[in-house]
Amino acid sequence: MRRAIFPGSFDPLTNGHLDVIRRSSPLFDEIVIAVLNNPDKNPMFTVEERVAMIEEIIPSVEHGDCRLIVDSFSGLTAEFVKRREATAIVRGIRAVSDYEYELRMALMNRKLEPTIETVFLMADEEYSYVSSTLMKQVFLLGGRVDGLIPELVEAHMRNKLTQNS
Ligand code: PNS
Repeated sequence: MRRAIFPGSFDPLTNGHLDVIRRSSPLFDEIVIAVLNNPDKNPMFTVEERVAMIEEIIPSVEHGDCRLIVDSFSGLTAEFVKRREATAIVRGIRAVSDYEYELRMALMNRKLEPTIETVFLMADEEYSYVSSTLMKQVFLLGGRVDGLIPELVEAHMRNKLTQNS
């Protein structure tokens, strides 16, 4: 059983994240998309909202025989990986600028739990500039984000905006 954890804030999920899920699914039997509960970061969506949104979207993602599960966690990713009896962490790399941060995390996670391997996947260049932070900023300032985040996420962002106004 090859089980991987794809951890992240996913505030919100972007098409870049979906691309990483699609690309990693042939490599594993099961991928747990693990949403970090990070209230300190003042997220746009609660962890429950993020989990529900991802659960709604993943049936439309091509994933072959790989089982996709959505969960949330607090604390260390390495602990969550151990708890879930996974062997790998999946992370996407968009550009060289991501590398240093990702390398530090991968090495720290390996130090914490030497059996964990981090698998890096190169996101499609189409999404090389797409980040959750940028998507929220552009959306909140009235810019177009279609094609960069799932339509359902955009609808939820619009609802949030209406609720908060
Ligand atoms: O999508 P993000 O915000 O880039 O994801 C970052 C994440 C959640 C993978 C990272 O912040 C993380 O693993 N946080 C949990 C706390 C932890 O384990 N920190 C040490 C990792 S080196």
